[in-house]
Amino acid sequence: MEKTRAMYNDLDSILYTRDELAAAVKQLGQQITKDYQGKKPVLICILKGASVFFVDLIREIDLPLEIDFMAVSSYGASTKSSGEVKMVKDLDRSILGRDVIVVEDIVDSGMTLSFLKRTLLGRGASSLRIATLLDKPARRRVELTVDYSCFEIPDAFVVGYGLDYNETYRNLPDIGVLSPRIYANEN
Ligand code: IMP
Ligand code: MG
Repeated sequence: MEKTRAMYNDLDSILYTRDELAAAVKQLGQQITKDYQGKKPVLICILKGASVFFVDLIREIDLPLEIDFMAVSSYGASTKSSGEVKMVKDLDRSILGRDVIVVEDIVDSGMTLSFLKRTLLGRGASSLRIATLLDKPARRRVELTVDYSCFEIPDAFVVGYGLDYNETYRNLPDIGVLSPRIYANEN
């Protein structure tokens, strides 16, 4: 763990260090490699939060695969989901008949992924699984099956390793709990 950067002063605690993250991502890559033997899945990165996790994960998967990117937005600058999901950037290629793995940073209410699952299955993907780095099951508002998850976390707002608050902290190599004083003025 690196604590030299000023951004670490905004954290209450470190939840996962970069080494713990790397070990979990490696294990997930091995699991996906096993589960998709003989297949060529399309991995979809949900921008921007999943970007750091995604580039690490695909390099731990020992299979031919394709990647694509999608951006959705539901949060704005807040720490609470608005419940509304809007597609900001669509995929470049068709996923008709493909085995799709949607890669997300965190499942919170589940609204984002249930919207994405409906949308992508509607386009004729032959299978669809969800891989998330973090899962906050206590906050789920819709029923959703999460196929792969590295860590289940308590109900706290976390940043780092791609996850942001108001677009900041994505470049922290560890994941930490953001101090509530940082977002105390939010209504
Ligand atoms: P959901 O639609 O409520 O499941 O929200 C998922 C999205 O909310 C994630 O992709 C994140 O962008 C964001 N999010 C949820 N919880 C956190 C958090 O603790 N830190 C940073 N972003 C979060
Ligand atoms: Mg996200």
